[in-house]
Amino acid sequence: MVTLRPLALDDAPDLTRIYSGASVRHTTGKPLTLDQAQEKIRAALARAAETPRAQWSWGILHEGDLIGLIALRRRTPVMGTISYILREDTWGNGYATHAAQQVTALAFTTAGLTRLEAMHHPDNPASGRVLAKAGFTRVGTSDRYTEDGSTVPYELYALENDSM
Ligand SMILES: CC(C)(COP(=O)(O)OP(=O)(O)OC[C@H]1O[C@@H](n2cnc3c(N)ncnc32)[C@H](O)[C@@H]1OP(=O)(O)O)[C@@H](O)C(=O)NCCC(=O)NCCS
Repeated sequence: MVTLRPLALDDAPDLTRIYSGASVRHTTGKPLTLDQAQEKIRAALARAAETPRAQWSWGILHEGDLIGLIALRRRTPVMGTISYILREDTWGNGYATHAAQQVTALAFTTAGLTRLEAMHHPDNPASGRVLAKAGFTRVGTSDRYTEDGSTVPYELYALENDSM
């Protein structure tokens, strides 16, 4: 349904379309400029070249169209986190779930992780559904500080590699 591929510098215009509107409401809060998109891709490419590798970022493709981004970050030698964002006009088709399933499989094989965690804003239940459909279990909340100093209890999910 969707395929993943590494990012390339000329993906920047597509990235600005992904990081806009409702897609940034409960994530970064602000749309991405073209310069920021280019910087984000450069940072992802630099991190992809690190050894040992601590971050993987992929573009999410649907029929050749770059519709989103998904990333895996190693937080400890065996624990990683995933995050994802899709362009608003592509929501509701199961694409994020399919991308998350591909990344969890890779996390437990290529990356050698045994546990994955992910968080979402409490007002963003669609992301919780994506995690549940990808096999994650809600394990509690984790407070995040906002710019005005208040805290927001993010929903925290985890997935253990049960084949270990
Ligand atoms: C969260 C996001 C990635 C979902 O992408 P998507 O491709 O639409 O996800 P899917 O189609 O795979 O699944 C969405 C699920 O959420 C459900 N959903 C959608 N809106 C919902 C709502 N308001 N309340 C509850 N569930 C909702 C859908 O019904 C679907 O579940 P179902 O298959 O059981 O019906 C997308 O909305 C997004 O990019 N949001 C902004 C970025 C973000 O929040 N990222 C997550 C932080 S890591």
